[in-house]
Amino acid sequence: MAYELFRRFSLFAELDDAELASVAAVAKPRRFARDEVVIREDERGDVFCLIKQGRVKISMTSPEGKEIILSTLGPGEFFGEMSLLDDEPRSASVIATEKLEVLTIWQSDFLELLRENFGITRRLLAEMSKRLRDASSRIESLATMDVYGRLARYLLELAASQGREAPDGYVAVTRPTHQAIANTIGTSRETVSRLIHELMEQGLLLSEGKTIYMRREALRKFREAS
Ligand code: CMP
Repeated sequence: MAYELFRRFSLFAELDDAELASVAAVAKPRRFARDEVVIREDERGDVFCLIKQGRVKISMTSPEGKEIILSTLGPGEFFGEMSLLDDEPRSASVIATEKLEVLTIWQSDFLELLRENFGITRRLLAEMSKRLRDASSRIESLATMDVYGRLARYLLELAASQGREAPDGYVAVTRPTHQAIANTIGTSRETVSRLIHELMEQGLLLSEGKTIYMRREALRKFREAS
């Protein structure tokens, strides 16, 4: 596989051509359809995955069968490292939310790359630190905020991670379903629909097809509420 492809992953940013070629030599492409399960919670882990194209959600299922979305990841990001590092079962399920292309690396090759290249190891640990910070922030918001505050923080983070500048000072994001938002912030779909409807009535959000436009003033209000 062409090693230039691997330059787009920040995990490999410090590698020279020869090192990138050695990563490319052990990576295999795999494709998944939308809604296909890539990794199942509690199974044994054997591969590490880099997202070439598409998005996934990382989720757990409660004993009552309710889905809890921990995170979503897109192109250039990775998943499946935890069980390869601690030899425990998969910590969560990973499901394609769009057509997905990943590059997979076997556990033994993945561990060898980490052993040989401190640049990769350091960046992997930095990303895992970021995910722990995000999880801490989520615990804090679940313990201390009402649903409006949690929705405000969710929309702010969505704007920061995926927002695009739009005309008239709006920030545009691709609209997740109300169910996906509810499963991320720990509430019901009906509550999310009601709150988003209220924000639209106040002119803070506009919805058009698959896009939500957030007014700058909305982002300021969300910052105050979260
Ligand atoms: P692993 O446990 O092997 O399989 C599931 C993967 O989901 C896990 O590795 C991580 O890559 C990812 N994952 C688990 N929990 C989180 C989280 N809280 N935030 C982001 N990614 C996660």
